[in-house]
Amino acid sequence: MSQRLQAVRGMHDILPQQTPLWQYLEAEIRQVLGAYHFEEIRLPVLEKTGVFTTSIGEGTDVVEKEMYTFADRNGDSLTLRPEGTAGCVRAMVQHGLLQGHAARVWYMGPMFRYERPQKGRSRQFHQTGVELFGPAGADADAELIALAARLWKRLGLLDGLTLEINTLGNAESRAAYREQLVAYFRAHEDALDEDSRRRLEINPLRILDSKNPAMQALIEKAPRMMDAMDELSLRHFNQLCGMLDAAGIAWTHNPRLVRGLDYYNHTVYEWTTDQLGAQSAICSGGRYDGLVERFGSKPVPATGFAMGMERVIELLRMQESASGQQTLDAYLVAPGVAETQVLAIAEQLRDQMPGLRMEMNLSGGSFKAQFKRADRSGAKVALVLGEDELATGELTVKPLRGQGEQQRIPLAELPPLLERWT
Ligand code: HAM
Repeated sequence: MSQRLQAVRGMHDILPQQTPLWQYLEAEIRQVLGAYHFEEIRLPVLEKTGVFTTSIGEGTDVVEKEMYTFADRNGDSLTLRPEGTAGCVRAMVQHGLLQGHAARVWYMGPMFRYERPQKGRSRQFHQTGVELFGPAGADADAELIALAARLWKRLGLLDGLTLEINTLGNAESRAAYREQLVAYFRAHEDALDEDSRRRLEINPLRILDSKNPAMQALIEKAPRMMDAMDELSLRHFNQLCGMLDAAGIAWTHNPRLVRGLDYYNHTVYEWTTDQLGAQSAICSGGRYDGLVERFGSKPVPATGFAMGMERVIELLRMQESASGQQTLDAYLVAPGVAETQVLAIAEQLRDQMPGLRMEMNLSGGSFKAQFKRADRSGAKVALVLGEDELATGELTVKPLRGQGEQQRIPLAELPPLLERWT
């Protein structure tokens, strides 16, 4: 017997009863992005592996453990994108789109990380990412945060979210801090766990992000990033905080927020929720002024974020109001009528009412069987096309959810009636 094939672990189908909520979320996102004049860019899901190793950073979990990397038939090393920023920068540089004052783009689609699947964490997940190239000021960071806040508000999610922000400072401040941190942890090397010992060499800032309870006391006493910030870095951070305050956006300072990707400087942030358990970040980002240059372009400052769509969907699902579900308006039953004629009438109805959500009965069946299907479809009305109706150019409209009397009317009078009933 043949074996039943299953989806790859950690990769999920999004089923027809779930897609309305996705479509609702995607439509809301598109509206908000359009209002801020961001334009869509569509990028390949596969890139040369170097696109990610040079940008996300060799010492990060994503590059070290989580990439789906393989050699193609040509022997080239390719990787399924674990995130969107790297490929986006690659494309912007490749197509010479970074010449003007500002370039504003967004993308939406699947990302792939070989992580241990758990609630809120999958191996294929979806992000909407927003990237702003050109402006170097804190106003650009603040505008993106305001955009996200506006989206949460529209979706009715804002009240349950916390915005955590931090600064990693500019390259000089970070280098100074790195030195202090390495000296501190080196002096306490015995107390470091294996992961942290490894990170000490390649990525000491990531030690601050350790979730190991045994490491917490040591991390608490580590030199503080804020104390290593130079004047320019502090100014950028303070400006951002002031702008968020002025725009009425609540935030908290999390001095230990360092992010899992290496390309950030100055501003970093995460929107978190207490509704989803351990995987609490629904949207994260920050400034990455040095990344464009690494792709062989002149330096161009940049800032951006990405939201985890599954996590936002889960929050929406938990609040009943936003089901996004669109019900069926009509089900066309046509007992005893030739199928060619049914299709012709159905198409005529669709010409007349382009917005009508109608299912046409397929494969015939008795009057009773067709009505049963109409009822199960969830349609608001059944449109009955019998021999009689066909002869007179009429249809019988039978409400299925108790909105008035059955009526037989000429096809031309159908639109206003359906408008009232559906
Ligand atoms: P990230 O924090 O790695 O940042 O991912 C952004 C969001 O994707 C997270 O906040 C989370 O909601 C979601 N996410 C990440 N991994 C998973 C997973 N395994 N399953 C489900 N959801 C997940 C980035 O990817 C950056 N490219 C963001 C950015 C854009 N920074 C600047 N521009």
